[in-house]
Amino acid sequence: MCQTTLHEFLHNLPKCEHHVHLEGCLTPQLIFQLAQKNNTPLPDPATNPAYESIEALTSRYHHFTSLDDFLAFYFQGMSVLIHESDFEDLAWNYFVKASKDGIHHAEVFFDPQVHMDRGVEYTAVVNGFVNGCKRAERELGLSTRLILCFVRHLPVSSARGVYEEALKKGDFEVDADRVHGIGWSSTEVGPPKDMFRELYASAKAKGIPLTAHAGEEGDPSYISTALELGATRIDHGIRLVEDTQLMKRIAEEGILLTVCPLSNVRLRCVESLDQVPIRTFLDNNVKFSINSDDPAYFGGYILDNYCAVQEAFGLSIRDWRRIAEDSVKCSWIGEARKVELLGRIEECVMRYSK
Ligand code: ADE
Ligand code: ZN
Repeated sequence: MCQTTLHEFLHNLPKCEHHVHLEGCLTPQLIFQLAQKNNTPLPDPATNPAYESIEALTSRYHHFTSLDDFLAFYFQGMSVLIHESDFEDLAWNYFVKASKDGIHHAEVFFDPQVHMDRGVEYTAVVNGFVNGCKRAERELGLSTRLILCFVRHLPVSSARGVYEEALKKGDFEVDADRVHGIGWSSTEVGPPKDMFRELYASAKAKGIPLTAHAGEEGDPSYISTALELGATRIDHGIRLVEDTQLMKRIAEEGILLTVCPLSNVRLRCVESLDQVPIRTFLDNNVKFSINSDDPAYFGGYILDNYCAVQEAFGLSIRDWRRIAEDSVKCSWIGEARKVELLGRIEECVMRYSK
């Protein structure tokens, strides 16, 4: 439990989440439950003892050695999702938790290629997640955006397949209000940095907002490549601090980094939370939001991440106001919603500044 004096303020501060993988919200409990319901066998505990029990799996999550070590569990975990309702329930459960944590706007990732690769229909995945988003908007008053991620461990042809299917179905049409942007994720170092050059050029020409996981494990050249390909936001981006010129450019252009502190510690991108470059970003006017990434795997949702940052850096209400305001201003939402959310932040800051 967070011990900081700002805990109540951080809870009530209106937050935006820009970096959470819906499949990363699958808890060990839900993995075992859905495996039984959907008759999708989990790995044999004789060869992989992590799958002996919910407790064993939870405990294994405390010992990830790298991004790729985690991804093996993440892709295995999502194999229990079969029906449209599984995807909808997963999204809905996340939004309920997000709302309780004080999130007012959430931009959420999903990995359709991985589901299609194991035989699940594109429409089951997308309809399920879209339904979850719409229900959150109706019943919780959240605004939501759904971001389709291409994955870097599968061939480009697979990403092209899902992209073409989404285009054919009209899912990227602004009026359809279904899928609002494209990102890339999964393994960083290894595959060609610019593997999605052609697809990003096509999406950019259509005006689809683009983001990309870069600078998590990879050096700053992964970030500059993502920008060159058309990303207007960078997911993680913590290794930006190694290139001061690029950091200056990102600050000047107002590009948002979606930082995930607890994830960075669990995946050993940093040794401890105080090594996440929060202070450096604040000092260099780099805009960033704070996010949970894969909360079911990394031991914390957004508020846990806010609290962990507060415990490590002892930020002021003024610092938090700036983080919250930048999060709103860089969200992929219209002006009217931004004004509404900025007003709520102002109200909260006034209440706790007395
Ligand atoms: N997919 C889910 N979580 C991820 C992460 N932290 N980095 C890259 N791809 C991911
Ligand atoms: Zn991520």
